[in-house]
Amino acid sequence: MSEVQVSEAEIAVHWKEEEYFYPSAKFIGQANANDPAIRERFAEKNFPECYKEYADLLTWDTYWHTTLDTSKAPFWKWFVGGKLNASFNCVDRHLAKYRNKAAFIWVPEPEDQMTQAITYQELYRRVNEMAALLRDYCGLKTGDRVTLHLPMVPDLPVTMLACARLGVIHSEVFGGFSGAACGGRIADSQSKILITMDAYYRNGELLDHKVKAEEALAAAEKEGQKVDKVLIWQRHHGTYSSKTPMVKGRDFIVNELLADYKGKVVEPVSMPAEAPLFLMYTSGTTAKPKGAQHSTGGYLAYVAGTSKYYQDIHPEDTYWCFADIGWITGHSYIVYGPLALAATSVMYEGVPTYPDAGRPWRIAEQLGVNIFHTAPTTIRMLRKLGPDEPKKYNYHFKHMTTVGEPIEPEVWRWYYHSVGKDEAVIVDTWWQTENGGFLCSTLPAFDKMKPGSAGPGVLGMYPTIFDEQGKEIPKGSGKAGNICIRNPWPGTFQTIWGDPDRYVATYYAKYNKKKDSKDWRDWPYFAGDGALQADDGYYRILGRVDDVINVAGHRLGTKELESAALTVDEIAEAAAVPVIDDLRGQNVWIVADMPKTRSGKIMRRVIAGISNFTSPGDITTLANPEIVATIKHHVESEKVKSGQTPRQLTEKELEEIKAFGRAE
Ligand code: WTA
Repeated sequence: MSEVQVSEAEIAVHWKEEEYFYPSAKFIGQANANDPAIRERFAEKNFPECYKEYADLLTWDTYWHTTLDTSKAPFWKWFVGGKLNASFNCVDRHLAKYRNKAAFIWVPEPEDQMTQAITYQELYRRVNEMAALLRDYCGLKTGDRVTLHLPMVPDLPVTMLACARLGVIHSEVFGGFSGAACGGRIADSQSKILITMDAYYRNGELLDHKVKAEEALAAAEKEGQKVDKVLIWQRHHGTYSSKTPMVKGRDFIVNELLADYKGKVVEPVSMPAEAPLFLMYTSGTTAKPKGAQHSTGGYLAYVAGTSKYYQDIHPEDTYWCFADIGWITGHSYIVYGPLALAATSVMYEGVPTYPDAGRPWRIAEQLGVNIFHTAPTTIRMLRKLGPDEPKKYNYHFKHMTTVGEPIEPEVWRWYYHSVGKDEAVIVDTWWQTENGGFLCSTLPAFDKMKPGSAGPGVLGMYPTIFDEQGKEIPKGSGKAGNICIRNPWPGTFQTIWGDPDRYVATYYAKYNKKKDSKDWRDWPYFAGDGALQADDGYYRILGRVDDVINVAGHRLGTKELESAALTVDEIAEAAAVPVIDDLRGQNVWIVADMPKTRSGKIMRRVIAGISNFTSPGDITTLANPEIVATIKHHVESEKVKSGQTPRQLTEKELEEIKAFGRAE
């Protein structure tokens, strides 16, 4: 690595710019967004009115009168005066044309279980019956919160849409999360009802899920929140597959109760555009998780618009977003966005490599999937375990997405050549739980692709990069700083549930200079990611700003080091963490797996803790908490073997390690 002079505030960038790839004429010909005038329509001078184009993808009960109200900045209000229902927009209005088209195709993990197609008509029936049950049996009404702790089964979107039908705010907790993590979210959202499942398949095993409900209720009660009813869906309707006993008077089997609501129709409640649709908790890794509160009108318009132009979804497509509905990608791009467009959305229950690394491509072949969407962690895993699997299957993607982390150019190229068979266009979409939908991405029919780069701001989005002092880093300079979005957009969250001060402090205070300003221009959104803009206008995301390592005064983005490690064939994934080092000893450890969040992000904070013989911190939100003990044992024994006996860290050193990877 060559010597680069950087100030303390800057992150050194060594990753060289890559070659370009171009969309095919065939793709461009059929794309939803292939009229060059679209850029002009969404130009800054047309903000915020440009977003009428997204709002007009929806059916409004009452049309809105004000596009953007900034009178309580930075608490933005979109499409004010408008009323609509999200469930109506995702289901009812498609019946006339698409009644017998599949809304969802659900693939169970065991290959000997039947794939299920759920038509729009069938979805309509199930959503109505569930809405009737929630209203009449549970007494839920508009504005109430209900916590869902459901895995990837059709009952999950059915339950979400049933809530939306009533204006009940759903808060889905990723199925892989622990009961304790679920309990914290029940308490924070003050839910009186928990909707969960008895069991589900994961890596060939039928896991007991109901057991987590017991832990969740206990954890919630400790925080003062009592749950009245636990509704349990059965993974195999008619059979209870959990070893955890049912509690009389508290636990109920949903699919049994539904018998009393057969054929019931529930009028969708007409909701103000500004009414919250759902909460999605995102972990502050050490602090209390934040409930990002998303709106009905702005959110739905934004995910419909971006699904249309960036996912290029047409009603004829078979679209598979291989993510979990338990994180924001699934809410926006498995359920709400695709269904608003009358898409056929594929849901898969299990892990990518069960029973082998050819599974995703088998599913794609069998269902005729032509749009594929997943995260770098899945791509890395499939590349490692089955680099030649894609070519064994006869599927053709026109479009692929990557989301959730920076993707190493090496991995991007495998995705493009092997998975996409040199035919599919790729969009690298950068965004966050808080944002509702994409912030940066190439527009698939227009923009050339650059491996490892997210591309320009999406339509109507004006990003910029600030240094620590709030000075704008020159555009296209390739110098890194804190990426911000200068303007609000319809999909953005409204607040942190129950904590508006934290909302302002975390996302807006840093670069706001006029506290009382009602002008959106005074409120840049601080994303907390390091980034640079290359001279072609594309943004490269370097990772969380607290994931930066200081080596001899040089601030290095973790992704750069990790990307270098990935050029070694035997390495599937890499995580760079700072180690307080007296002896300049061994710093590389080969381990079987990494501690990861639900969305597949490596929790570097945990590894940093272990590597420094200190506490890994809170691990309740890991998808695989069991790996912590294994890595701890491995790393500590390796360290001791090489003579690096642990010493007491100084106060300052401890602070440094604790602060690493503390994504606020
Ligand atoms: C990171 C996921 C690089 C980023 C939708 C962000 C990305 C955090 C990308 C949010 C991408 C997401 N390239 N980094 N395409 N997408 N990130 O809330 O650090 O789970 O701040 O939302 O993931 O993660 P979250």
